[in-house]
Amino acid sequence: MPDPVQTALDRLGTLGRISDDPSRLVRSFLSPASRVAAETVLGWMEAAGMATSHAPDGTIRGVLPGTRPDAAPLLLGSHLDTVIDAGKYDGALGIIGALAAIESLEAPLPFPVHLLGFSDEEGVRFHTTYLGSRSVTGPLDEATLAATDSSGRSLAEVIGEDGWHDGATDIHYEPGSTLGYVELHIEQGRVLEEAGEAACVVSAISGQARVTVTLDGLADHAGTTPMPLRRDALAGAAECILAAESAACAEPPLVVTVGHIAVHPDASNCIAGSARFSVDLRHPDDTRRRAGLRELEEKFAAIAAARGLGLGWTLVQDDDSAPCDPALSDRLLDALEAVTGTRRMMPSGAGHDAVALARIAPVAMLFLRCRGGLSHHPDEFATPEDIATGIRILTRFLTSTP
Ligand code: GLV
Ligand code: MN
Ligand code: MN
Repeated sequence: MPDPVQTALDRLGTLGRISDDPSRLVRSFLSPASRVAAETVLGWMEAAGMATSHAPDGTIRGVLPGTRPDAAPLLLGSHLDTVIDAGKYDGALGIIGALAAIESLEAPLPFPVHLLGFSDEEGVRFHTTYLGSRSVTGPLDEATLAATDSSGRSLAEVIGEDGWHDGATDIHYEPGSTLGYVELHIEQGRVLEEAGEAACVVSAISGQARVTVTLDGLADHAGTTPMPLRRDALAGAAECILAAESAACAEPPLVVTVGHIAVHPDASNCIAGSARFSVDLRHPDDTRRRAGLRELEEKFAAIAAARGLGLGWTLVQDDDSAPCDPALSDRLLDALEAVTGTRRMMPSGAGHDAVALARIAPVAMLFLRCRGGLSHHPDEFATPEDIATGIRILTRFLTSTP
C-alpha cells in the first residue's frame, strides 16, 4: 500500500500545478482550473473508497460511511481556490491532509466522515469570502448573489451560467446535524516557527470586514489642467490608503490592507476621473473592528470632501470573530499532545472556512508551522515532516473520537 504521507505530498504538487495561468498558481471561483482541481480531488476521494458528489458552485464532498452510516457525520475540509500567484499549501493542505488521515485509518470509524473541498474561501473573484462554505450552511443572501466580478457579472449569473450543474447535488447541513467541523491549515504566521513547534490548535478566528470604496472626480488633461483645479480620484485614493495605513499602525492589532485598485481612464496623460479600491480590515475584537470601520469611513469622507470627490462606500463583508469550540478543540489538543508532546493554542488572524461552518457546527482547527510565516506567496512552504505530523494528529483525532 502506498505511503499516505508521500501520496499527500505528490498530490499537493499535482494540485499546485493546476492553474488558470501557466506562469503562476491561481484558481478562482468556478474557473476552468477550479473545475479540473475539483475533479482531480474527487478521483482521489473515490480511490479512497468515498462516495462523491459536487454542488453547482463547485464545492465537492467525499463520504466515508463508517460502521454506523446513519450517525451524525464529522466534517473535515478546506478550500480549493487560491489567491493570485499563490503557494500550494493554503487550502489544498487541509483537503489533502484530511484525505491522507482517512487513508491512514486501520479500521472503520463508528461515524461517517464527510470531506469537503470548498469552491471559494479567498474571495478573490467577488471580493466577498467563504462562498463555498457559506453555501453549505444555507442559501447565500441577495447582496452576496448580486456581488460582481471584474467583468461586471454577478455571482448569481456566474453560478447560473458557468456552474457545475451536471449531476450536481445540494450539499447542505442543518445546525446541530454533525459532530463538528475540523480543518487543518498552515499557520500563515511565525509563532510556531519561533516556538520551535510543529503544530497548534486555534482558539478563535479574527473577524474581518471588506469594503469596496469608490472615489469620483473629473477626468481631465494631464498637460493643461492646473494643479489647484484638479479633482484627481487617484491622488484622493492615495491619500485614503495612507490614512488607512496610519490608522492601523496607531492601533495594533488592527490591520488594514488595500490590495486592489482600478482607475479610469487608466492612462498616463489623463487625470484619473474615478478610482475603485478594496479595503480589508481585521481586528480580533469585534467592537474595535466595527469602530475601526466607522472611523475609516469618516476619514475617507473628509479626504473626499476636501478634494471635491464623491465617495462610495459599500460594505461587502462583515464577519464577527468565530471562537472555536472548547470541547472539540480540547480533543484536538489531546491528539496534538499525544503526537508532539506540545499543547499550544493561538488565535488566527487569517480567515478560514471554519468561520462559516461555526454557524451550524462546533469547529476546531489545527495549524501547521510554515516557513517564515510566509503565505499568499509562491514561496509558501511547510516541511514534509510537519505535514506528516499534521496527518498523524488528524488520524489520532479521528480514532479517538467517540
Ligand atoms: C484568507 O486567506 C484570508 O484570511 O484572507
Ligand atoms: Mn486558507
Ligand atoms: Mn488564503
